[in-house]
Amino acid sequence: MLILVFRNNIPKTMSGNSFTKINGDFKHKDILSLSQFSTSDLTLLFKHIPTMKVLAANAKPSELLAGNIVTLLFYEPSSRTFGSFGAAVKQLGGQTIDIINPQQFSSVAKGENLEDTIRVFEAYGDAIVIRHPEVGTAQRAANIAQFVPVLNAGDGNGEHPTQALLDLYTIYEKFNRLDNLTCVFAGDPLNSRTIHSLMDGLSLYNGNTIYLLSPKELQLSQNDITKFTKKGLKLHIINNGKDMPKTADVWYWTRVQKERFTDLKAYDKVKDSFYLTKELVSQFAGKDTIFMDPLPRVGKIDMLVDEDPRSEYLRSQIRNGMYVRMALMALVLGKIK
Ligand code: CP
Repeated sequence: MLILVFRNNIPKTMSGNSFTKINGDFKHKDILSLSQFSTSDLTLLFKHIPTMKVLAANAKPSELLAGNIVTLLFYEPSSRTFGSFGAAVKQLGGQTIDIINPQQFSSVAKGENLEDTIRVFEAYGDAIVIRHPEVGTAQRAANIAQFVPVLNAGDGNGEHPTQALLDLYTIYEKFNRLDNLTCVFAGDPLNSRTIHSLMDGLSLYNGNTIYLLSPKELQLSQNDITKFTKKGLKLHIINNGKDMPKTADVWYWTRVQKERFTDLKAYDKVKDSFYLTKELVSQFAGKDTIFMDPLPRVGKIDMLVDEDPRSEYLRSQIRNGMYVRMALMALVLGKIK
């Protein structure tokens, strides 16, 4: 007698129980927020990155994810997150179902709701990576999916945990530590999900100081200021480039998020607030300061800064996106420990 075993007939470890701590075991867990991670979870993830670099350099894909299919469900545009998740799965011998702009190219265009969409794609693959303009949608999707892990690829102005993982790794690779750092986060702390998740990550370590440089309108929310201060980050809210420290280890530039504005006049007023130029670099950067940006740059970093050896945004930062997502997918799908 032939017994059919469906690929996803075992309920996932954390079904219906989101924001569950990783606690040293990534297998079948939803990845929704940096707050799920401890320092030892980050160390565990980072331990696998050198191997992933070697696997990615090989001309032949690894077979670590052979037979695995991952759905990339992107309701918002993306180059890096979509591209690097896709490359990560393929580098490890897996395959992807690519649903870009489901509002136009899937049955969402006919009115299909999120619940049904998630149930459909959990039947076809082993994990769902979702980006969505509304805060909390990745968590909603994780609660709907009973059998496969859901990974948050950015939910509105909420969180972008996998970006924070690659940002943290990029900083760690440069300084060999994630504590006692001084950082400048510039641009749009109010709306930048990458800033929110990265602050969560840095708050796990002692002695980190962050200068948040933005126009007053885009300051980090009071709730977040209170939350991150309680978590141990030393915060300085500044609205003028002249107040930047001269000794920062990391500059993390973010664009003003046009898509989060309902009033375009309000956007126009703040969109060009802080521009990273060679002059700013020569005035305020130290010899070991690194320049990071989750990108796209959209006019906020002068291209002349690209050639500066301290600029990591088009170098290690984007490459680490693929390596970190390779390790993460292999851990979540239970192929490595
Ligand atoms: N950093 C980032 O999220 O870029 P994309 O929007 O291109 O994915």
